[in-house]
Amino acid sequence: MVVRRELMRGLGRLNATTTVLQRARLADPLGGMWEAADVQWWWRRPRATDELALPVWFDEVGPVAAAGLTAWEDTWQADVFAVPSIVKDEDVWAATLEGTAAHRGGALEVLVREDDAPLADLALQSGFAMTDELSGTAWMDADHRPPVAQVNGFAIVDRVARADRPHPMIVRNGELVEQRLRQCSLYDPTLDLAVEDADGSVAGYALFWFDHATLVGLLEPMRVEDDYQRRGLARVLLTNGLDRLARKGARRLKVGFETDAARNLYLGAGFVQTSVDRLLTRPAPYEQPGQ
Ligand SMILES: CC(C)(COP(=O)(O)OP(=O)(O)OC[C@H]1O[C@@H](n2cnc3c(N)ncnc32)[C@H](O)[C@@H]1OP(=O)(O)O)[C@@H](O)C(=O)NCCC(=O)NCCS
Repeated sequence: MVVRRELMRGLGRLNATTTVLQRARLADPLGGMWEAADVQWWWRRPRATDELALPVWFDEVGPVAAAGLTAWEDTWQADVFAVPSIVKDEDVWAATLEGTAAHRGGALEVLVREDDAPLADLALQSGFAMTDELSGTAWMDADHRPPVAQVNGFAIVDRVARADRPHPMIVRNGELVEQRLRQCSLYDPTLDLAVEDADGSVAGYALFWFDHATLVGLLEPMRVEDDYQRRGLARVLLTNGLDRLARKGARRLKVGFETDAARNLYLGAGFVQTSVDRLLTRPAPYEQPGQ
């Protein structure tokens, strides 16, 4: 039973959304699209949506649903974060769209599992259209993780070992990336990995997230720089990270992917795809029907 609805912003809303997604995962081991760690990963850089006051619904235990808006370069991502069957998805969706007023008809997107017809219908009724952009989600039991791989001449390091060097994600994610990640309750510098060559040059990186509430381990993001690809380095990062997650207590491991290369990497390591996810978009400028 919902006891109150509160407008929240900033880190407070991130933490409330974290609790919503943890409770949703505990209620349904495969349901929904996102882990709490996904929204924490989106926190890595300041965004126009950070300080929006958006509704969060509470029951007597804590947060049960939250409207989600995340500003990307050209578009805002809309999300319904909810523990199943407590707040109606349509109420969270309506509140999310109300929150886009500050975006003034700008482009919107939402990622929907192909088996989630109700959310797709809500988006379609709000002027969104299906695109051909498909992505995927895959899971693995931690006990089934592959053995840790190695490549001669390369070594895995974590942020604890490299605290004195600039964070390897600065180039793509901005100067504040490490400071912002450290604000996230699920960030763990011993799961923030890079692979280095013998000279200490960073060939790639991957960040793993252990959620102690759900015992889920998530990988997001993963990158091997162009000059170092196809040498097995992503497999080295992946197998090291999954092993660290399992040793911290993760029981189930999750990853999302958009490209064939990533899909092959993850399914080849033993992940099993559980959903196909489709992007729906609403281009700008958008005017409400009847206006
Ligand atoms: C995906 C990515 C991380 C792979 O890195 P990599 O170090 O080249 O991968 P590896 O050499 O360890 O390859 C491991 C397996 O992944 C798959 N794979 C990797 N690159 C591939 C490609 N270009 N095409 C098809 N399969 C590919 C293969 O199954 C490969 O096994 P194999 O070499 O035995 O065939 C890298 O291409 C990358 O950073 N891409 C840009 C960012 C990105 O897409 N990240 C993933 C987001 S989920």
